[in-house]
Amino acid sequence: MAEKGTSLFSPYKMGKFSLSHRVVLAPLTRCRALGGIPGDALVEYYTQRSTPGGFLITEGTLISPTARGFPHVPGIYSDAQVEAWKKVVNAVHAKGSIIFCQLWHVGRASHQVYQPGGAAPISSTNKAISNRWRILMTDGTYSTCSAPRALETSEIPEVVELYSLAALNAIRAGFDGVEIHGGYGYLIDQFLKDGINDRIDEYGGSMENRCRFLMQVIQAVVSAVGAERVAFRTSPAIDHNDATDSDPLNLGLSVIERINKLQLQVGSELTYLHVQRELGRPGTEDVVVQTTRTWRRAYQGTFICSGGFTRELGTQAVAEGDADLVSFGRDFISNPDLVLRLKLNAPLNKYIRETFYTHDPVVGYTDYPFLSKAKQVDDWHHSDAFELI
Ligand SMILES: Cc1cc2nc3c(=O)[nH]c(=O)nc-3n(C[C@H](O)[C@H](O)[C@H](O)COP(=O)(O)O)c2cc1C
Repeated sequence: MAEKGTSLFSPYKMGKFSLSHRVVLAPLTRCRALGGIPGDALVEYYTQRSTPGGFLITEGTLISPTARGFPHVPGIYSDAQVEAWKKVVNAVHAKGSIIFCQLWHVGRASHQVYQPGGAAPISSTNKAISNRWRILMTDGTYSTCSAPRALETSEIPEVVELYSLAALNAIRAGFDGVEIHGGYGYLIDQFLKDGINDRIDEYGGSMENRCRFLMQVIQAVVSAVGAERVAFRTSPAIDHNDATDSDPLNLGLSVIERINKLQLQVGSELTYLHVQRELGRPGTEDVVVQTTRTWRRAYQGTFICSGGFTRELGTQAVAEGDADLVSFGRDFISNPDLVLRLKLNAPLNKYIRETFYTHDPVVGYTDYPFLSKAKQVDDWHHSDAFELI
C-alpha cells in the first residue's frame, strides 16, 4: 500500500533520481529519425514532453544494424547516432527531465529488406511470425515478416555484447540510463516465451534456460553501466507478434525472482521494472489488475506500469500501491503537455492513429496543440505541479 495521499503528483525518489511527479512518457516508436539518426524533429518532440522533475523513456532504439524492423527508427550503435542523441538529451535535461534510452532488438519481427545484406533476421527460432501480424515496410505498405534464422549457441554472447555496447553509447550520449526492451514479441521475448522458443540448447526448454539470454543481457548491461542506470521492460501476458506463453503469470514471476536475486548479488536495485500490462479485453480487467498486482508485490524495487491508463486509473494505481509510476503512451502522443492536463483535469486531444508511424517531422508528431497559453498561465498560478523538489 502506498503512503496515504499518494497521487500521480506526489514526488518520488527513483534510485538516485528525484522526480516531481509520476507521469512517465512511455517508449513510443514514431519513425521520425530519418536514416536512423535522431534529428531536430526528435529534439522538438522530446522537449515538448519534458517537465521539471519528469521522466521520459525514448522510443525503441536499435542496438545494431540487425536490430531493425521498422522504417526510420533511431539507433545507438554508431558515433553519428550518439552525437545526434546528445542534442535530444541536452534539450530534455535543460527542461529538468530525466531520460532513459530504450534498447531494442526486434529479432524475427523484421524483414530481409531491413537486414544488412538482405540476410534472414535473427531469433531464438527458425519459425516465422504468422501472417496474423504485419510489418510496416519502407513504402508505407504492410507485409508479413521474413522467416528468421535461429542463432547458433556460439553466436549468442556476441548479441549479448551488442546490448552492453549500446548501453555504453547511451551513457556517452548523456542519457541518465537505459531501459532494456524485453517485451512485445521482440528478441528477448522470443527467448522467454514457450510459444516461440523451441531451442534444445541451454537457451531453450526449462524456465531457467528460457530466462538465460535475458539474464545474460541484464548482467552484461549492469556490468557496463551500473545497476542504478539499468531498467527492464517486460510484457509476459501480451501475445503481440505471436509471443504467447502457456503460463504468463509464472513467467513474469520467474523473471522477477531472477532480477531480485541479481539485485542482491550486485548490491543495488535496477532503476525500475516496467511492466506493460494487457489492454483489458472486456471482462478480463480484474484478471489483468490481479496479475499485475502479483508481479508488483513480488518485485523488490520501483515498479512502472503501462497500458490503458487514464487519469483516474493512474491515480488509483498509485494510491493503492499497484504502481510507483505510471507510463502513458497514446495520450502522450497527442498531448505534448499531458502532465499539465492531467494535473488540471483538462480535456485531452485525441490521438490520430494514421500518423503514429508516418515520417513527417511535424504532422502528427510535434503539431498536437498545447493548452492555450492564457489558460496555462492562469492555471499555473493555481497549480503546484511544477515546483521542483
Ligand atoms: C505508436 C506506438 C509505438 C510504440 N512503440 C513502443 C516502443 O518503441 N517500445 C515499447 O516498449 N513499447 C512501445 N509501445 C507501447 C507503449 O509504450 C505503451 O505500453 C502502450 O501504448 C500502452 O499504453 P497506452 O494505453 O497509454 O497507450 C508503442 C505503442 C504505440 C501506440
